Amino acid sequence: MTADNWVTVSKLDAVEVGNVIGIRAGELDIALYNIEGQIYATHNICTHAHALLSDGWLEEDVIECPLHGGRFEVKTGKGLGAPITCDVRTLPVRVEDGVIQVNLA
Ligand code: FES
Repeated sequence: MTADNWVTVSKLDAVEVGNVIGIRAGELDIALYNIEGQIYATHNICTHAHALLSDGWLEEDVIECPLHGGRFEVKTGKGLGAPITCDVRTLPVRVEDGVIQVNLA
C-alpha cells in the first residue's frame, strides 16, 4: 500500500448506513459498504460467477449475492460456505473531508 494509490471513489453521504453501492475505479468494480457508520470496500464481482455484490443484500456485516445466495463477511472478504469457494478481496478504505478513498495498490 503506497501513498500514491489512494483514489477518491465516492462522497461519503452517497453510502447510507446499512447500505452498499457499486462504483467503478479504472477497470475495477468496487462495492462500498456502510456498516454502523464505518466504510468498507471489496471487489464487487462475486467470486462464484458474474454478479454484482452491490445488487445483493447487506445484513449487518454480511453481503449476500443476488444470483445464488453466496455470502461474504464484508470486513474480511471471507466466503461463508457453499456455493462460495473463494474469498472476495477487500480494499483499504479511508474517509477524508467527506469523501471515500480506496487504495488500489
Ligand atoms: S454468483 Fe454469487 S453466489 Fe453465484
